[in-house]
Amino acid sequence: MKISRRDSLKIVGAGAAAAAAASSWGGFGGAGAAPMPSQQPQESPEVVADRVRRMKWWHAAKFGMFIHWGLYSVIGQHEWAMELEGIPIPQYELLAKHFTPKPHAARAWARLARQAGQKYMVMTTKHHEGFCNFETKLTNYCAPKQGPGRDLVAEYVEAARAEGLRVGFYYSLMDWHHPDGARCATDEAARQRFVEYTHGLIRELMTNYGKIDILWYDVDWPLTPEQWKSKEMNEMVFELQPDIIVNNRNGLPGDFSTPEQHIQAEKTGRAWETCMTMNDSWGYQKADDNWKSPKTIVRNLVTCANGGGNYLLNIGPMADGSIPEESLRILSKVGKWMDKNGETIYESERMFGRGTPFAGFTRQGNTLYIHVHFWPGETSASKWLSFYRPTSTVAIGGVGAKVQSARLLATGEKVDFRQDDISVQFTGLPVAAPDDPVTVIAAECDAEPSVDGDYVREHRERYKVGVSWS
Ligand code: GLC
Repeated sequence: MKISRRDSLKIVGAGAAAAAAASSWGGFGGAGAAPMPSQQPQESPEVVADRVRRMKWWHAAKFGMFIHWGLYSVIGQHEWAMELEGIPIPQYELLAKHFTPKPHAARAWARLARQAGQKYMVMTTKHHEGFCNFETKLTNYCAPKQGPGRDLVAEYVEAARAEGLRVGFYYSLMDWHHPDGARCATDEAARQRFVEYTHGLIRELMTNYGKIDILWYDVDWPLTPEQWKSKEMNEMVFELQPDIIVNNRNGLPGDFSTPEQHIQAEKTGRAWETCMTMNDSWGYQKADDNWKSPKTIVRNLVTCANGGGNYLLNIGPMADGSIPEESLRILSKVGKWMDKNGETIYESERMFGRGTPFAGFTRQGNTLYIHVHFWPGETSASKWLSFYRPTSTVAIGGVGAKVQSARLLATGEKVDFRQDDISVQFTGLPVAAPDDPVTVIAAECDAEPSVDGDYVREHRERYKVGVSWS
């Protein structure tokens, strides 16, 4: 039986949720599933509505800059050096005197972030090492009272705002320096002191810098959320910052999930943000040369947008605050791409259909953006296969909508196409990729587009054993 295009579209629509659950290519839970606020048990509609309000800018922002900067940047051997190398604490503390960054280093970070198309920043206010980059009354192990001689968080906040970027604070609950930081797990008096200290530092952060947009907790070792008093912690945060959003790393669900170093869309529709390094280290690691290419970064951003998630990409500035050369190069290139192609990311909605080995997809309304990261150019097969003519052809199987027009986003040029029940072929394209590192074809469709990677396998008509040459 021949399946008509219309029938096939119905099948794609109806089967979407099931296919998403079953397929290995990874659907995202139904055609057009929009990012939904996570509703936790017993949450009232008011609480959920408030989350929708607070999260709106963040969903539109899609792309942020993570910054890991602290005493570990002086060593330049990853932010876990203190523990992984077992550096004696009295020695590690000496770094506090020798951490002497140049004034307003954060301005260059914020400028780069804006040029790269990143809409928000999240900076380490205190990492696991326990050193506070901010002014605090609770310890002298902090930037204004040590080498820097000033409040580095205040400089960062000012720099981000000057570039029109939203401001996020990373805060590590785990603390390797505080005497109660580990023993709080077994000593009740230590726990009480340490929880009070922790809440006190967070209170200062939430009080002294005006409006803060994100609180990004990290590692809640060694206590449970009850022991940390995480509920009270969040309540205090929301009382001081009614518009803020918080992540899930103080042991509570918070407003969004935080897959780390991998891209994993939430099946439930809950908000999520993948955080990732540009090489393999968060803090400055001078010898780490395992840099991702600008193409990889763009592909990752596309994959996040496709699944309705955000991408928080890290830089690890050097001790003086300079941005490593490679990070600058990579982000500048990503920024040039975003200048031309940003609409395919910022305005996209979660879609069904994850991508192929040569292309990723995003969607806005009925527009399908095909992000071709391996441009096909010419194939010798076109001598025999009319499918590949006229050269060059980009073909996508299983598109669940009828394409009505198409254009190359980089040039605005119209693109010819053919479509049958199985695939759509964009033809007569330039042999050389029109854009770098990824070329986008924008296809206007007659309905919300999806791309079902299993569709061709399941629905293509098969012929017979052996070949037929006629
Ligand atoms: C991990 C690491 C930490 C890094 C963080 C970023 O929790 O311990 O060094 O800051 O991930 O997500």
